[in-house]
Amino acid sequence: MSMLEAMLHRRSVRSYTDDPVSREQIEQILHAGLTSPTGKNLKSWEFVVVDDREKLKQFAEGRKGGSMKMLTRAAAAIFVFGDTGASDVWCEDCSAAMANMHLMADSLGLGSCWIQGRLREAENGRSTSDFCRDLLGVPEGYEMEAVLSVGVPDDSAPAPHVLDEADTSKVHWGVF
Ligand SMILES: Cc1cc2nc3c(=O)[nH]c(=O)nc-3n(C[C@H](O)[C@H](O)[C@H](O)COP(=O)(O)O)c2cc1C
Repeated sequence: MSMLEAMLHRRSVRSYTDDPVSREQIEQILHAGLTSPTGKNLKSWEFVVVDDREKLKQFAEGRKGGSMKMLTRAAAAIFVFGDTGASDVWCEDCSAAMANMHLMADSLGLGSCWIQGRLREAENGRSTSDFCRDLLGVPEGYEMEAVLSVGVPDDSAPAPHVLDEADTSKVHWGVF
């Protein structure tokens, strides 16, 4: 599969079977995050993995609107926190890692979804970042960018993209 085919194949998968995801698969996804590019190579991210299904259920109320409820069906989640004092581009560092881990999960035949944390609120009115920080024991000074939910896709998983969907009107050659 070419790189472009692999990118077209990736979709946001929010619903999973009860099948497990192995430690080795999670570690491969983490390696994709850990080898992502970062500003000045400062690696301002930290990854917190939760692969206990009972613990994952505690995050269901982490987002107003219910985006985190998918974690109650996931096999694992990788929370990505940025060290806000370490780099002024921690948000971009974390985002690059998220994107690469999302692609890596797909390449392993797993479904995953980016759930936004930064600038989002939990059901109890606290920030999503603080809600998750408390459950995960993350120290002050770190902000949550996002969490990647991971599982074996169920039958409702969306079909791969096709190149015809690419909106080329977004591209401006030479001048906007
Ligand atoms: C910055 C960002 C934030 C996102 N936040 C959420 C989210 O909170 N909940 C969710 O279900 N999907 C979220 N997504 C996934 C998008 O909804 C998804 O990528 C988009 O609809 C395109 O679908 P595709 O990923 O299947 O191509 C997010 C994606 C990005 C890049």
